[in-house]
Amino acid sequence: MYTKIWKIDPFNIDLTLIREAAEIIRRGGLVAFPTETVYGLGADVFNSAACRKIFEVKKRPMDNPLIIHIKDFEQLDLVSREVPEKIFKVIKRLWPGPLTVILKKSLEIPREATGGLDTVAVRSPAHPIALKLIELSDTPIAAPSANISGKPSPTKAEHVIEDFLGIIDGIIDGGETIFGIESTIINFLTDPPTLLRPGAYPVEIIEEIIGEKIYIPDFARGLGEAERALAPGMKYRHYAPDIPMFLVESSSYDDYKLSLLTDKILKLAKDLSRSYKIVTIAATRETIDIYEREFRDNPYIKIIDIGSRKNLYEIAKNIFDVLRKADKTKDSVLIVEGVEEKSLGLAIMNRLRKASSKRIVI
Ligand code: TXA
Ligand code: MG
Repeated sequence: MYTKIWKIDPFNIDLTLIREAAEIIRRGGLVAFPTETVYGLGADVFNSAACRKIFEVKKRPMDNPLIIHIKDFEQLDLVSREVPEKIFKVIKRLWPGPLTVILKKSLEIPREATGGLDTVAVRSPAHPIALKLIELSDTPIAAPSANISGKPSPTKAEHVIEDFLGIIDGIIDGGETIFGIESTIINFLTDPPTLLRPGAYPVEIIEEIIGEKIYIPDFARGLGEAERALAPGMKYRHYAPDIPMFLVESSSYDDYKLSLLTDKILKLAKDLSRSYKIVTIAATRETIDIYEREFRDNPYIKIIDIGSRKNLYEIAKNIFDVLRKADKTKDSVLIVEGVEEKSLGLAIMNRLRKASSKRIVI
């Protein structure tokens, strides 16, 4: 299949190009597009054949439901019904933005989009290209992240091209996404509300807005297995590079713990370099010098900067790209440092734990 690529500047949108992409969505095709979180793989939510195609090309299990993207509150009634006042208040404050809520589905939504559930996951994305695409397609758009199921999510058009060139109808290249990590998914239908997936909106901020604690189950921290009934689709392995990945984490990251962490990684890297051609260490700016000093003369140990512990937005934005880049080095292994599970750190650690093949806690 020929995949059309449109390069569009989000700050100066070329409407003729978006119209072409929207026309494809209207005719039942698949178009990848940028959102403020990650790239989505979009289809008309009311077209069940198009929704089915999303699962096929992503190789996604059919019981892992999609997120529906709407332009504004006017489209809310098309996809959901009986929205509780409490949820309405939250989304009024936080949309458009990276918060996904679970609602009762409208009768028109095909079962293909929801994995047979009677609820839907809905959000309104804060990205000018995504909003324009939904508007011109004249329908809410079902869109999971635009990656082959199980792989790291796409934060750049290149990532989508790697996975889907020749496989989908079109890709809108709108540059790098803003947050680089997916939306926060909360089920406000439970009491207290349940965090299903930590994401770009820190839970603490949402708790402050609603004046209520949100329940954070272990699986939302990337620990243990999700129960199918509670969090459909969360049980599958996610975000994982093909190469082995070691996550080295701690319960806190003060100077003392950080020195234990780096000692552990220095030893681990030396051990692993006996079995693998290349060892990549993904380090934070606070610790990177330690590895660079130690392995200065060792061409088989590569060190990547993932950003500063003081700016978790930077780490979140880099993380999927780091996983994809490391994966390109054959016969290699990746070691990643953990970060504190606060604010965006909760989402980062959820992704890293799910991506890792081995987790070491010091
Ligand atoms: O930031 C994002 O949310 C991105 C962009 C493209 O918007 N999308 C995204 O979609 O991350 P995806 O498919 O990778 O993740 C959707 C997850 C599913 O794995 C599932 O766990 C949850 O949303 N979900 C969908 N419908 C649900 C429902 N009715 N109840 C509970 N969870 C649901
Ligand atoms: Mg995904």
